[in-house]
Amino acid sequence: MINIDSRTHVRGESIYVNDIPPREDTLIGVVFASPLAHGRIKSIDFSEALQVDGVEGIISAKDIKGENQIGGIIQDEELVADKTVDYIGMPIALVCAKTGRAARKAASKIKVDIEELHPIVTAREAHAAKKFIVPSRTFKTGDTDSEWKNCAHVIEGQAEMGGQEHVYLETQGAYAYPMENDCLKIHSSTQATKYVQRAAAKVLGIPMHRIEVDVNRIGGGFGGKEDQATPWACLAGLAAYTLKKPVKLVLSRAEDIRMTGKRHPYSFDFKLGLSKDLKILCYEVQCFQNAGACADVSPAVMERTLFHGTASYFVPNARITVHSCKTNLPPNTAFRGFGAPQGMFVIEAALMKAAATLGVDMMEIQKRNLLSEGDRFPYDQAAKNCNARKCWDTAWETFGVEKLKSEVADFNTKNTLFKKGLSLYPLCFGISFTKTSLNQGRSLVHIYSDGTVSITTGVVEMGQGVNTKILQAAALTLSISPKRFTIHSTNTSRIANPSPTAASSGADLNGKATIMACQALLARLKGVACQELRAQDPDDIEIKDEVIYHKGKKTDLTWERLVFLTEEARVALSEHAHYATPIIHFNKATEKGHPFAYHVYGTAVTVVTVDCLRGTYNVDLVKIVHDFGSSINLDIDIGQVEGALLQGIGLMTIEELLIDQKGKLVYDDLSSYKVPDIYFTPQTLEVNPLDTKPDALALLGSKAVGEPPLMYGIGTYFAILKAMREFNPQLKLELWAPMTHQKCLMSLYDNYGDLLK
Ligand code: MTE
Ligand code: HPA
Ligand code: MOS
Repeated sequence: MINIDSRTHVRGESIYVNDIPPREDTLIGVVFASPLAHGRIKSIDFSEALQVDGVEGIISAKDIKGENQIGGIIQDEELVADKTVDYIGMPIALVCAKTGRAARKAASKIKVDIEELHPIVTAREAHAAKKFIVPSRTFKTGDTDSEWKNCAHVIEGQAEMGGQEHVYLETQGAYAYPMENDCLKIHSSTQATKYVQRAAAKVLGIPMHRIEVDVNRIGGGFGGKEDQATPWACLAGLAAYTLKKPVKLVLSRAEDIRMTGKRHPYSFDFKLGLSKDLKILCYEVQCFQNAGACADVSPAVMERTLFHGTASYFVPNARITVHSCKTNLPPNTAFRGFGAPQGMFVIEAALMKAAATLGVDMMEIQKRNLLSEGDRFPYDQAAKNCNARKCWDTAWETFGVEKLKSEVADFNTKNTLFKKGLSLYPLCFGISFTKTSLNQGRSLVHIYSDGTVSITTGVVEMGQGVNTKILQAAALTLSISPKRFTIHSTNTSRIANPSPTAASSGADLNGKATIMACQALLARLKGVACQELRAQDPDDIEIKDEVIYHKGKKTDLTWERLVFLTEEARVALSEHAHYATPIIHFNKATEKGHPFAYHVYGTAVTVVTVDCLRGTYNVDLVKIVHDFGSSINLDIDIGQVEGALLQGIGLMTIEELLIDQKGKLVYDDLSSYKVPDIYFTPQTLEVNPLDTKPDALALLGSKAVGEPPLMYGIGTYFAILKAMREFNPQLKLELWAPMTHQKCLMSLYDNYGDLLK
């Protein structure tokens, strides 16, 4: 089954916010934002800006009739700066004009006087100044304090991991217009219609039912539109409501990069204790999360870092702490992996440092500590259907790792300026929102008189192919042709209170709800078929490929005729279903429970070549064994693995968020901030599905795939580091991701002089 969006995507006909044909009198909004990372607003003067031809209004804090507050988890985020500015790019006002040009010109004429205050830029600075978003949290298992003395080797160190810009193809945007009776409709490029609706209602001071939020699809979100689509939707909504005209606000790429939050940079202090035979006995880590100026989803991201602190390994004694540090950067936010990549990077960094210190191959330590069936994570859940070792062993065998090892070693003896590195990366990622209450999905299914079907769910299509999977699940359940279905936009009037499309759970939660709705419809249709065929038991009725069977025998009754009869019999042809993941629970007081429906496993084998003269590198090969469960759409799922892998490689290598002391992004456009392109893609890229048991809590046994494969990119970092150590065995192990070309070059020669002596 091909992705149902293929045709319109390829023809350029897919509709995003900026493609909605504008209504008459539509105004274009342009954001006027803070030029400083921290300061007190002394005065703002709009008078000159208001004179610009075409300007119809400038919306600022004084226009807010409700509350100037859009915080989700914590109410700490102003929609527009009122008295202070807390980061560069913080919205102060929205200029609305007949054209974008006029709005931009007017924005340039706004005069603002800000008294500059000292900005805090790094997490460690904020930690020292005791500036936190929420109290720090710790996951503990066993007793590290008493176990250190039993460790044969204790390795300590520091690590850093940079953030990441989302670079979704469609920038943030919204189109809002007033409707009759004081209602408002907002088309938003959001992963979370409910968050937009809730925040807009609060800002406008009107109830949620008067606001309809609609999302046809979004041009990528990657987490960047879970919470951060909200300000733009609220600004457009506020302007439309105040000026009583349609208002469109679409950020330019540069505005988007400068104004929105990103993946959280983290700093770490770690300590790892190994036994003589390289078993992990103890692990402690302090993680300093750079949250930015307000909470956004940082407390939830922090939680996922805690959950993934021991990655794919069994650690009997662990103490993992995360500090969510408040800084003067745009609020950092959800990004594919959601705090897990940071937790999973630092333990890998600790293993690398241990391997280098002990003179063993990192793979040896990794392999000896992989999770086994029944092992408990620090949060107490046991690894069930644990495929960690199965993935590792399968990758080792099928990809001929022994042979690769000798080829790499051989290459390294023969070459002086080019060096190769080989790494394995074991993946383990928990599926479910860590906040149990978010694990719910809904679906509304209508069967029309002509036998066609409409589906609306709470999920947002953002390129991940979720609507295709949902359509497949519905078609399989009803056993009718996929051609009979349309999946409609995600809309708060049809599906209320949906969880954001996130945590890789969109397909499971909303797909399962769709199956439930179809099953309810099927039961009613069978009841009608039973009467029509004068059969005794609806359980003897089956629908197969649009034909009705009785006791296994084909009848003359077709799908279309049955739908007609059902309507005639005044039996409902619509169903709304609600799904809530069973089993899961978590107790925040004890930090123990069973938060995840299941885990996804995998292993990536990576080979890189470093040009040690230039500090550049190529990813020669990535071969992955991935645990899809039993995929219902392998084409889409492999696409997800490949896309996530590339995004993960970018995170670990060339994507650098350099922030200066004034809190300004140094690389703040796409000519300087570089994401992987086709030339950067591994020359050989292979994804093999592991033959695993389908999990009952996955959609038709097809495991969630959206985020987990991003972490395979971590393998590339360590492959590069290994190659660099081949060139310079004295290399200072600075565990600082991303390993940009500059960093690679500078570290290669850092201690080179000593080596030549
Ligand atoms: N794939 C595409 N093409 N575009 C995206 O924005 N987002 C990722 C992933 N895959 C994304 C994507 C993220 S962050 C998540 S959480 C999941 O898709 C969400 O979708 P799902 O729950 O349906 O897997
Ligand atoms: N993952 C992704 N997004 C989320 C989560 C989560 O666990 N919780 C809240 N938003
Ligand atoms: Mo994904 S970061 O959970 O939107």
